[in-house]
Amino acid sequence: MYDQRSTLIRCFIAIPLPTEIRDRIGAYLGELKSVNQAVKWVRAENIHLTLKFFGEIEAEKIEKIKTLLPALGKISSPFRLEISGSGCFPNKKKPHIFWLALSQQGSEELQVIYSWLEDHLAGLGFERDTRKFSPHLTLGRVKTQTDFRPLLDRMEKSPFPATAFEVSVLELIRSQLTPAGARYTTLAAVTFNL
Ligand code: 2AM
Repeated sequence: MYDQRSTLIRCFIAIPLPTEIRDRIGAYLGELKSVNQAVKWVRAENIHLTLKFFGEIEAEKIEKIKTLLPALGKISSPFRLEISGSGCFPNKKKPHIFWLALSQQGSEELQVIYSWLEDHLAGLGFERDTRKFSPHLTLGRVKTQTDFRPLLDRMEKSPFPATAFEVSVLELIRSQLTPAGARYTTLAAVTFNL
């Protein structure tokens, strides 16, 4: 599929969400959409927890990343995460990104996996993230500044109900940007099997 040396592939590593959770987030997104249409809301099936975004990288590097996955599977057992709360980056006055937050539950496992990835990817020559890891599920991105108070108000008064789910898989995902939005394809996956 990508046999030319110069082929660049936009990709990232993420934890996928169970379909049932995506559906619930989809319903919540429907509510938020009814309050604000200026935000570019993410399609529910595209929501995931990103651990590492590579941008566009050469196809050969994808093969290198894949070689890390079997060892990565051995550093953790499946674990639970809980979606709880929401917020926006960088602040409420001028939000750019709206997201759902994760609670403390499972945060240690997540941090171990994130750090392992950063260390091993650095060993392969990938740059480390300069920002502190702040796990979140992006719901929407602001394209045009409007009055976001009604939306923030709605998110505060009608929060997404706390929902836990089991994490057993991590995926390397290709992202193709199309006018209809990003199209994601799973290139490789690993199951946690410590
Ligand atoms: P986000 O959810 O915080 O927006 C695919 O685009 C995934 O990679 C998204 O989940 C996005 O995280 C993440 N990502 C991180 N840095 C990015 C960047 N500079 N451009 C696009 N996506 C990025």
